[in-house]
Amino acid sequence: MRGGAALNGTVRISGAKNAALPILCATLLSDGASRLRNVPALRDIETTAALLRFLGRGVTVDAPEVRVEAGSDIKPEAPYELVKQMRASILVLGPLVARFGRAKVSLPGGCAIGARPVDQHLKGLEAMGANIRLERGYVHAEGPGGGGRLRGAEIYFDIPTVTGTENLMMAAALAKGRSTLVNCAREPEVEELGRVLNKMGVEVTGAGTDVIHVVGVDRGELDPFDHAIIPDRIEAGTYLVAAAATGGDVLVEGAELSDLEALVSKLRMAGVELAAEGDAIRVRRPGPLRPVNITTAPHPGFPTDMQAQFLVLMCLAKGESVITETIFENRFMHVPELQRMGASVALRGNTAVVQGVGHLYGASVMATDLRASASLVIAGLVAEDETEVRRVYHLDRGYEHMETKLARVGARIARVKDAES
Ligand code: EPZ
Repeated sequence: MRGGAALNGTVRISGAKNAALPILCATLLSDGASRLRNVPALRDIETTAALLRFLGRGVTVDAPEVRVEAGSDIKPEAPYELVKQMRASILVLGPLVARFGRAKVSLPGGCAIGARPVDQHLKGLEAMGANIRLERGYVHAEGPGGGGRLRGAEIYFDIPTVTGTENLMMAAALAKGRSTLVNCAREPEVEELGRVLNKMGVEVTGAGTDVIHVVGVDRGELDPFDHAIIPDRIEAGTYLVAAAATGGDVLVEGAELSDLEALVSKLRMAGVELAAEGDAIRVRRPGPLRPVNITTAPHPGFPTDMQAQFLVLMCLAKGESVITETIFENRFMHVPELQRMGASVALRGNTAVVQGVGHLYGASVMATDLRASASLVIAGLVAEDETEVRRVYHLDRGYEHMETKLARVGARIARVKDAES
């Protein structure tokens, strides 16, 4: 891409990846045929579909629609080959052991941004009576008494975990009696899963708050569903920051201010104008960017999935800002690449101290994970001359047609195929 063009026009936001993944796994709780709409065309959706097919369900991906066919002849095993491609595959564990009494799921292992253990997922299943064994890189889970039904339980999370909360909500949906989950993740994607489980016939209350109640139903009793996925607030946040960085005037359609409060308040402190217009947010940047400090936190705090993008914005501000990452222990992989583009950032433990430099220089840079790659694209949009972002397969995991959407609002950007892309 060639930087320097202000973005102007309208961007339509796709469905939320982090809502679609658990909801696709929830189809395993019912034997009937389910349909998801507004599903983004992403690699992670394809990987989840491949996993469901491997388990024994027919799946048709025809974005923005995904159809999961009826079926109960399931082999409850998720192999390393599939799980290693996408950590969120762990989300089949709860539904499988709840629906089929046993499951063998590869441990996801660590990833570029951190160790990412799943101890809270396993602790919760054990509280519901599951026997859990870790063996040769796999979780072996079995319902009480050799495959019996899970029991409702009170589960306290030591740390709010998004997929942990989702996994145990799904397990509790087929457990005997009531479950109470405490210190839950409150992300909008968790709330969305609660809506779908209610549609399937489970009584779920409190999704989106830190205490969730689930009253389980008998196996085989859950209905299939037809559901349109909520818009992707992180994709929306990424385009808000891109527009603010280039100094344009963009309407981001399908974005709710209420889902992005922490980000919106920080953008306003930085001098960015944001206003709701129907189901859209208009973003403008009339003047110079001001430095702002952020600390990532579970929702409704500042989302860690927006940290890298916001850090790029602070590279353009006049003055010093401090970015503190509290969720993942290794989520500054974008910094050395940005330094190659002329950014002035000092890393100290889980903190990045950014000295605004006003402008960046084009360079060839390497993406390391999904959100880091989005931050490098934003840096390239403002940098002088050419920037080449390599390993964009990271980007394709979470951003639908990013270069097309950006080009539509004036970015000089194109995808170039090469051995690494
Ligand atoms: C979800 O990951 C998202 N992924 C991540 O988005 C997001 O960054 C993260 O939540 C935080 O918001 C999906 O929804 C598919 P966590 P998840 O469990 O659920 C620790 C993206 O860019 N922890 O909420 O894996 C963990 O190590 C991705 O789209 C335990 O210690 O994150 C971390 O420090 C990246 N034990 C913290 O909790 C556990 O059992 C929060 O992680 C579980 C988590």
